[in-house]
Amino acid sequence: MHQDRIRCPQLRDRIVDAETAAAHIKDGMTVGMSGFTKAGEAKAVPLALAKRAKTDPLKITLITGASLGHHMDQQLTEAGVLARRMPFQADPALRKAINRGDVMFIDQHLSETVEQLRAEQIHSVDVAIIEATAITENGGIVPTTSVGNSASFSILAEKVIIELNLSADPLWEGVHDIFIPTRRPARTPIPLVATDSRIGMPYIPIPPEKIVGIVLTNEPDSYSEILPPDEGTKAISDHLIRFFLSEVKKGHLTNELLPLQAGIGTIANSVMHGLIDSPFYNLKMYSEVLQDSTIQLFDSGKLLFASAAAVTLSEPVHKAFMENFETYRSKIVLRPQEVSNHPEVVRRLGIIGINTALEFDIYGNVNSTHVGGTHMMNGIGGSGDFARNGYLSIFVTKSLAKDGAISSVVPMVSHVDHTEHDVDILVTDQGLADLRGLAPRERAQTIIANCVHPDYREALLDYHERAKARGGHTPHILEEAVSWHTAFRDHKDMRKAFS
Ligand code: COA
Repeated sequence: MHQDRIRCPQLRDRIVDAETAAAHIKDGMTVGMSGFTKAGEAKAVPLALAKRAKTDPLKITLITGASLGHHMDQQLTEAGVLARRMPFQADPALRKAINRGDVMFIDQHLSETVEQLRAEQIHSVDVAIIEATAITENGGIVPTTSVGNSASFSILAEKVIIELNLSADPLWEGVHDIFIPTRRPARTPIPLVATDSRIGMPYIPIPPEKIVGIVLTNEPDSYSEILPPDEGTKAISDHLIRFFLSEVKKGHLTNELLPLQAGIGTIANSVMHGLIDSPFYNLKMYSEVLQDSTIQLFDSGKLLFASAAAVTLSEPVHKAFMENFETYRSKIVLRPQEVSNHPEVVRRLGIIGINTALEFDIYGNVNSTHVGGTHMMNGIGGSGDFARNGYLSIFVTKSLAKDGAISSVVPMVSHVDHTEHDVDILVTDQGLADLRGLAPRERAQTIIANCVHPDYREALLDYHERAKARGGHTPHILEEAVSWHTAFRDHKDMRKAFS
């Protein structure tokens, strides 16, 4: 019964259809929408907007937590609604529009967006569209499967549209911990001292007068489509577990490790999955998205608690998760992404950040976003929030891509997301390079010896030797440094650069 979910009496007459709600959004506006890696996005109003745009063209700036489910970005792109998009996306149609230059994409550290909004450094949110499980007696919004940027969007927007999703289990109420950092210059420390600290409220507090419409929906989130672990990801995971064991032996870590963060996608999920068969226990996660591996780690008894900004699962894992939601919900907390990814908290808790690179170079610079140096893949997401501030900054990737035509280890990355200063450990299926305490020339030696596929190792060694002969702290042959990329661009095979 939707009336039970709208507990604020004065809001009960605000139910409208999606088209009526979408009418609040006008050409040129900035819209802040819930949604984080396919979890908890608004599902009806953006579609009504896309439909309207076909006869009544309009363009907006769309800001979300991260990527969206239900091909929402595709539909908005195809309807020509998106002028600007931030801070993250993972949609093939939108990706193409961004790379054509049709949509201006602002690829941003996920902890930063609402800081800039709050400080009015970027255009403020005109309308927020937020998916909710319930509305409290005082008009507070109880989110669904993600918090993302929903809290600050609702607080900062002039108007708020709620999508009350009746398919959301009412037990989501109580899972969220909404804490908003105080404004500068009187900013106080975020009092979060452990992964399971609760420092805020279970709902987003806003004045009920701001809610201009409540749209009823009944559509669950779309499922994640990550691939299961394979030989390559298993090898990466094994190298990493051996590294953790050696750190325990040296007394740097205990068998409980430190709170873990895992990036999005198939590789990071598979690496976390590998911890199920490891000797580590009483693990905790302080991450951004909880993926299948989180639930499997709970089930194995290895994981005690997980904090994130969203939960995104595959269909079978989601089914099992919801069937036992009562048990899982006491072990998770969902926070605003400005808290889940906050540099202050990441540094305090000593996070072990495990993120995925598209490619890295012989000195340890990482490219996570730009294919061939020019074409946007998804975005930096939260990887930089964790990589720069964590206790250990780990990047993983397979040593080869595109059936061996691409080496993920290159002389010089074609785009830098994480500089050598932010990277401690690199892992591929070939092995692990521990870069801590090493100078660039030593880093190159370690990376080439441990991470490169044999098809490319000799050529990389040769490049480094010739570069060293020219001198420099970080030796390079500039005219040759991206020749592997141009060889792939021109001949669809990096090996053409040296064979
Ligand atoms: N050059 C070109 N393409 C490459 C490549 C390279 N060096 N390395 C990988 N790829 C391609 C793969 O072939 C694959 O292509 P396909 O979709 O056509 O099959 C695609 O990139 C994805 O690679 P995959 O190996 O399946 O990895 P993934 O699903 O784990 O995703 C990233 C890897 C880097 C794209 C993804 O992790 C990402 O977007 N990261 C940035 C954001 C981030 O780290 N967020 C986490 C913060 S919490």
